[in-house]
Amino acid sequence: MSQAQPHIGIVIGSTREGRFGDKPAQWILELARARPDMGFELIDLRDHPLPLFDEPVSPAWAPVQNEAAQRWAAKLGTLDGLVVVPPEYNHGPTAVLKNAFDYAYNEFSRKPIAFVGYGGVGAARAIEQLRLVAIELQMAPVRNAVHVGMVEFLGVWQQGKSFADYPHLAQAANAMLDDMAWWATALKAARSAA
Ligand SMILES: Cc1cc2nc3c(=O)[nH]c(=O)nc-3n(C[C@H](O)[C@H](O)[C@H](O)COP(=O)(O)O)c2cc1C
Repeated sequence: MSQAQPHIGIVIGSTREGRFGDKPAQWILELARARPDMGFELIDLRDHPLPLFDEPVSPAWAPVQNEAAQRWAAKLGTLDGLVVVPPEYNHGPTAVLKNAFDYAYNEFSRKPIAFVGYGGVGAARAIEQLRLVAIELQMAPVRNAVHVGMVEFLGVWQQGKSFADYPHLAQAANAMLDDMAWWATALKAARSAA
C-alpha cells in the first residue's frame, strides 16, 4: 500500500459470542483487499472494550479520558474511512456500535462511511439510523451499500452456502467500494489541504 492511498477500517458491528458478523466482515475484507486503490484493515470492537459511555462531556468538546476510548480514538485517527458491517437489533444498530460512535468525534469527521448490513432486511433499518448518526459526526455516508438479506443470511449461516453463491452481493460490494474510493480520496485531499 502506498502512503497516498486511503486507509479504510472495516468494523464488525457485533461483539457477542457466536456472532455471525465475522462472516460478512471476512468476505468484504477479502474482496476489498483485491483492489489496488485503497488499503484495508479489520477492526474488531472486541479489541476495544469500551465501557458504556461515561465521559464528563461529549468527545466533540474535549479529548476522552477513558484509556480504552483513547486507544479507540487513536485507531480512528489512522483511518481515512470506515466500512461498517452491522446486524440489526430491534430495527436499530447494536448498542456496542452506537456506543463506539459516541466515544469519539473529531476522529470520525470529514471521512466517508459505508455499510455491509446483514439480517432479515440486510440491516437496512439499522443502516438508515447509522447514516443519521454519521452525519452528526460530520461523516459522509456513501450511497451504495451491501444488504445481505434473509435468503443469503440463512444460506451462509445454516445451509452451507458461501457469499460467492450470491453474485449480486459482490456487485453491490464493488459499487459501494467505488463510492468509498471516490469519497475517501477526495476527503483525504481536502483534509490535508485544510
Ligand atoms: C437483540 C436482538 C435483536 C434482533 N433484532 C433483529 C431485527 O430487528 N431485525 C433483524 O433482521 N434481525 C434481528 N435479530 C437477528 C439478527 O439478525 C441475528 O441474530 C444476527 O445473527 C445478529 O448478528 P450477530 O450474530 O453478528 O450478532 C436480532 C437479534 C438479536 C440478538
